[in-house]
Amino acid sequence: MKTISIIVAIDKRNAIGNKGDQLAYIREDLRRFKQFTTGHTIVMGRRTAEALPKGALPNRKNVVLSRSSDWQKEGFTVVKTIQQAIDEAADDELYVIGGGEIYNLFIQSANRLIITEIDYTFDEADTYFPTIDKTLWHISETTDYATDEKSGLRYRYVTYER
Ligand SMILES: NC(=O)c1ccc[n+]([C@@H]2O[C@H](COP(=O)([O-])OP(=O)(O)OC[C@H]3O[C@@H](n4cnc5c(N)ncnc54)[C@H](OP(=O)(O)O)[C@@H]3O)[C@@H](O)[C@H]2O)c1
Repeated sequence: MKTISIIVAIDKRNAIGNKGDQLAYIREDLRRFKQFTTGHTIVMGRRTAEALPKGALPNRKNVVLSRSSDWQKEGFTVVKTIQQAIDEAADDELYVIGGGEIYNLFIQSANRLIITEIDYTFDEADTYFPTIDKTLWHISETTDYATDEKSGLRYRYVTYER
């Protein structure tokens, strides 16, 4: 079976966004995101798709979940169900890139969680990643903390496998 990976940056309380935007932009984390996802299929919610400043992400198959038939945008394939999204990836690896509703939908089907843990609490958050059930998931890799030069935020990468 192909791998379904969730890729997400969370704060100390699992917060992931506020008012439609990400909580932080960590340069090294964005580079890593690109490295993981390039050449593969990515799936996102309609709200996350609309927030992408330059539209569909290049060199990836961009799949969007929406309940509406009206939503269309160049570079995106729109689907209505989780199964259609999985089918769009065919034998390719599928990366689930957010946001909150879409992470909630896919956490039961995913076999890998690629998490960036930001060592900070963003009080202004309104969107959260679901609780990771430690009876279902084990940590397969953890890095040391690094510090983002621009924001001063400390972060590390943690990978979970089912
Ligand atoms: N920290 C991170 O790594 C990260 C990554 C990505 C996004 N984010 C943040 O997450 C926030 C956005 O998340 P969100 O939860 O508001 O929105 P979202 O998950 O991006 O999109 C929600 C939309 O997805 C569609 N949808 C949801 N469930 C569906 C289902 N069962 N079947 C078909 N379509 C479905 C609906 O679209 P329609 O309304 O069109 O039907 C819904 O409005 C933003 O703040 C963003 O910056 C953070």
